[in-house]
Amino acid sequence: MAITPLMPVYPRCGVRPVRGEHCHLIDEDGTKYLDFASGIAVNLLGHSHPGLIGAIQKQAETLMHVSNLYGSPQGEKLAQMLVDNTFADTVFFTNSGAEAVETAIKTARAYHQSAGNEHKHELITFTNAFHGRTMATISASNQTKMHHGFQPLLEGFRYCEFDDLEMATSLIGPNTAGFLVEPIQGEGGIRPASNEFMQGLRALADEHDLMLALDEVQCGVARTGTLYAYEQYGIVPDIVATAKGIGGGFPLGACLATEKAARGMTFGTHGSTYGGNPLAMAAGTAVMEAVANDDFLAEVSEKGERIRARLEQFIGNYPDLFELVRGKGLMLGIKMKVESRPFFVHLRDNHELLMVAAGDNTLRLLPPLVIGDAEIDEFFEKLSAGAADYEIPQAS
Ligand SMILES: Cc1ncc(COP(=O)(O)O)c(C=O)c1O
Repeated sequence: MAITPLMPVYPRCGVRPVRGEHCHLIDEDGTKYLDFASGIAVNLLGHSHPGLIGAIQKQAETLMHVSNLYGSPQGEKLAQMLVDNTFADTVFFTNSGAEAVETAIKTARAYHQSAGNEHKHELITFTNAFHGRTMATISASNQTKMHHGFQPLLEGFRYCEFDDLEMATSLIGPNTAGFLVEPIQGEGGIRPASNEFMQGLRALADEHDLMLALDEVQCGVARTGTLYAYEQYGIVPDIVATAKGIGGGFPLGACLATEKAARGMTFGTHGSTYGGNPLAMAAGTAVMEAVANDDFLAEVSEKGERIRARLEQFIGNYPDLFELVRGKGLMLGIKMKVESRPFFVHLRDNHELLMVAAGDNTLRLLPPLVIGDAEIDEFFEKLSAGAADYEIPQAS
C-alpha cells in the first residue's frame, strides 16, 4: 500500500514533537526548538501552563461530555465571560475555526432570510483570505489552490480586493447579506486592514443593513494586545468567529454575535455534538481567566512593540533579505525580499527556531503570549545566526 495511515494532505516536515515545555518543543530525538509558531497561533499560554492543565484535568475527572440537549452550566459560564468582555450578546461554541466561520456565514444569511429576505445570501469576501477548509470556507476565499478537486463551490461569495473600500462599495447589490473579513490577514501574510477600510465597512453595513462578520480566528484572543483586534479599529462588529487561542491548545471555537445579528439562529437551526462540551469549556474558561485582563493585554502590547522595534533594527542589517515588518501585538510578519519558505526551513533545520511561512513571502512570528525576556533574546540570537549563515537558493 502506497498511502500512509495519516491521510497525506499535509507536507509534514522532519520535526516530530513529543513534549512541550513553556515556549519550547522537544522532538522525539531530544532536539529542543524555540516555538515562535504556537501551533499557528494556538498555544497562547505556552505548552505547560499549570492553570490550563489543571482545569482540563479537573474537568476530565468530573464530566467530559454531555449532549447539548441538557443545560450547560460550563457553557453558560464561558459564554457569559465572552459576552462580558466583547461586543457580543450571545455565543455558539464550535470545535474549530472553520466551524466558527461556517456559523458566522449561516448567522449572516439567517439574519436576512429569517426576516423574509430569501434572496440576501451573498457575502463579500476579500482576496488572499483564509477562512478554513470546509466547503463554505474554501468557497469564501478566492485562493484557487484550495478549490482544486472540490468543485462545485458553494455559491454566494463575491471576492473583493483586500483593503479596497471603493471596490467593496461597488460590489454591494440586492443579494448582499454582508461582509466577511479578517481584520488582520494571517495566512495571507500578516496584513492588517487599514482603519479607514474597517470603519468604512462598518459604515456600509449600517447604511445597507448588512452584517459585518469578522474572522478573528487567528488575530483574536489577546494575540494583538486587545482581546479582539476589532477593538483597535474603533468599530463594533455584528458577528465574530474566534478559535485557535481560545482553547489554548484544546480544540475550541466560537461564533459571537449581537442579539440583532443572531435573530435567525433559533431553536433547531444549528447544532454540534461536541460544540461547547464541558471539557472544552474548562479549557476556554482557563484561557479567558488568564488573558482577559488589562495587565495581560498590556504585556502583550509591550512585548509586541519591543520585538517589533528590535526586528526593524535587525532587518536593516540584511537589506537583501528583508523588506519590512508588519502586524500588531504578538502577531508579526517579516516580509522578505526573497522567498520566505526556504529561509523558514533554514531557521527550523539549522537553528532550531520554529516560525510559520505565510503568503506574500512573509515569515510569521506567533509566539506564545507568555514569552519572557529570555525567549525574546533567544529568538534574536537564532534569527541573527540564521540570517548570517543563510545562502539564498539560486533559482534553477
Ligand atoms: C483566519 C482563519 N480563519 C479560519 C481558520 C480555520 O481554522 P481551523 O483550522 O481551526 O478550522 C484559520 C486557520 O488557520 C484562520 O487562520
